[in-house]
Amino acid sequence: MEAGSHVPVVTIDGPSGSGKGTISREVARHLGWHLLDSGALYRLVALLGSLRGVPPEDVAGHAALARAMDVEFGGNGQGGERIRVDGADVTRDVRSETTGQGASRVAAWPAVRDALLERQRAFARAPGLVADGRDMGTVIFPAADLKIFLTASAEERALRRYKQLKEKGSGANLAALSREIAERDRRDSTRAVAPLAPAPDARIVDSTGMSIVQVVASVLAAGRAQGLWS
Ligand code: DC
Repeated sequence: MEAGSHVPVVTIDGPSGSGKGTISREVARHLGWHLLDSGALYRLVALLGSLRGVPPEDVAGHAALARAMDVEFGGNGQGGERIRVDGADVTRDVRSETTGQGASRVAAWPAVRDALLERQRAFARAPGLVADGRDMGTVIFPAADLKIFLTASAEERALRRYKQLKEKGSGANLAALSREIAERDRRDSTRAVAPLAPAPDARIVDSTGMSIVQVVASVLAAGRAQGLWS
């Protein structure tokens, strides 16, 4: 592709546990496109902050980490992910509920969001990008070619998260997870900057009761209908 030519972007936004991560990964894999897991960036800022002893309320300290951290997304050679930050393997810690809560807190700070803006946009490289997050279609890629807002009932989201954590061998408690998801939804959708909300031109997909295969098929069908791929 020539320099400066259009790189197609698909955004998949939605609340915690809506399945965005899995669906985005599958769609990106199917198309052979790049993937941006923006939630992982907020998680890394929170995790690094706690590992480095940055005080929990130090906004500038977290923004500085967001700007300087050296992040490496890769595979573990067995179909799973491997995430390194500043050379350290943080694959497991980055997915914990504690880190998720920390991410939701630092994500409410405009300075941290600003610090991550260009880093996220740099993921848009040929042949295309699938971007997963909360504000991909509203703030980071407002001109995206296809915008999906993925939801599911709060009960189903808590249950999916529970199964995911169990599969990874992490401890999980369904009632506590439901409370945490409700709290995270509240914080993510009521914050002043880039709150979780569908873009006006997003296609809303309610995945309650749908399988991963069905949701992926509906995203692929939407892109096909728009002539984004065949
Ligand atoms: O998708 P996730 O659970 O990995 O996201 C962790 C937190 O990061 C989530 O609670 C809100 C925040 N986040 C955000 O504010 N904007 C994004 N684009 C992605 C995540």
